[in-house]
Amino acid sequence: MTEILSVASECAPLVKTGGLADVAGALPGALRPLGLRMRTLLPGYPQVMAGIGKARAVWRSDALFGGPACVLAARTDALDLLVLDAPHLFDRPGQIYLGPDGRDWPDNPERFAALCLAAAEIAARGADGWRPDILHCHDWQAGLAPVYLRDRFPDAPAGIVQTIHNVAFQGLVPVDRLDALGLPRSGMTPEGFEYWGQIGALKAGLVWADRITTVSPTYAAELLTPEFGMGLDGVLRARQDRLSGILNGVDLADWAPPFRLASGKARHKARIRAEMDLPEATGPLCVVVSRMTEQKGLDLLLEALPALLENGGQLALLGSGAADLELAFERAAGDPNVAVRLGYDEALSRMLVAGGDAILVPSRFEPCGLTQLYGLLHGTIPVVTLTGGLADTVIPATPAGLRAGVATGLQVFPITSDALGRALARLCALHAQPEVWRRMQRNAMRQPVGWDRSAEEYAALYRELSEA
Ligand code: ADP
Ligand code: GLC
Repeated sequence: MTEILSVASECAPLVKTGGLADVAGALPGALRPLGLRMRTLLPGYPQVMAGIGKARAVWRSDALFGGPACVLAARTDALDLLVLDAPHLFDRPGQIYLGPDGRDWPDNPERFAALCLAAAEIAARGADGWRPDILHCHDWQAGLAPVYLRDRFPDAPAGIVQTIHNVAFQGLVPVDRLDALGLPRSGMTPEGFEYWGQIGALKAGLVWADRITTVSPTYAAELLTPEFGMGLDGVLRARQDRLSGILNGVDLADWAPPFRLASGKARHKARIRAEMDLPEATGPLCVVVSRMTEQKGLDLLLEALPALLENGGQLALLGSGAADLELAFERAAGDPNVAVRLGYDEALSRMLVAGGDAILVPSRFEPCGLTQLYGLLHGTIPVVTLTGGLADTVIPATPAGLRAGVATGLQVFPITSDALGRALARLCALHAQPEVWRRMQRNAMRQPVGWDRSAEEYAALYRELSEA
């Protein structure tokens, strides 16, 4: 059996700020039927410690970046966990990456370097009588693990996979922390982990890993360009033969199976209108569930909103993030057909996805995107920009797509507010044609958005590496 140690800074349902948690939480279950065991190493944040119940220590350190630490082995229904219990690093209130002032915790480099050190030691020496064949690192928070493993344990046989969920977050650390982090000085070169005079944690993962994956084939291609590579396109071009894109899936056990459209959709939509105080309307109820950042293109939506409202549509948005965007959407909610809920709310997010007519994802870039997949599953028509995983998961309602009867959503290109406005007007026109609309909904619900195929792609990658 191939054994994998997955290292992630968040994992649903224990702790989540975005799609990384969904993926880290679902992948182990998707791999199990294929005969692969994945254990997940997570930081022991308060919500993780509270969620694991019975646990036993399988690894210890007397001094891990300023305090004692141990790794606890624990199980939840779906996950086989290793939790890094280091109270001086992780036992803090509030958001997992940010302090009460809304800025990154100043010791984030040490917090996630600690996770990486524990990961490297377990990958090399084992813990609990278990040693993985593969070390699978997610995003910059796990990016130093490959360096620690290869630098400190050069004979360790484990293969290393580094996955990029979002190249916008690179984990840059001032160079004066190099020794404190226990990194090899020889790595501080442009061919190593140096990034314009700083230490790049994600770059380290990309250089030291045996294979690099990202979360959709289109984003894998985009990453090689200066426009999307965010300074790491050169590194990725140099390692292009090691890079592949494997699409994220939806955890079908977690996301309720599709319901009968006629009754289910209407019932859920009525709940949204009641919950968010929206009047009845004949146009489509569009929903958004999103972090509110530059990436997600919600400023474009603000500009395009009149095209939706003038055509009888409505908007219900759930999100949180940049203060200026939050304020602008609160103002937009002055219109009776716009409802905005600021914050993070798992239950409301599911209600919106299930009851909306359409789900809007107008991202400037999107490595994969999960909410459009949740939309497809529920017959909630995605309106997406033509980028990354959005391009790989939605079949556009072009005249050809409609004529062939295969369309599942609308694509916006170029990524501008004008094009988004045109798409929203078109959405309203399609919604007014019940037969066309139902056909799209049925197509959407038939899309294979589960993990099956992607789990097989990961399995093939792990097997290839462990047999190498
Ligand atoms: P990203 O990881 O870039 O934020 P994804 O689309 O991959 O984007 O994943 C976002 C995940 O976070 C989805 O599961 C989505 O439902 C969830 N989510 C985002 N914002 C909220 C919110 N305000 N409340 C509840 N869930 C949210
Ligand atoms: C990142 C990306 C998102 C992706 C998620 C899970 O947060 O922004 O597109 O779906 O990771 O891979």
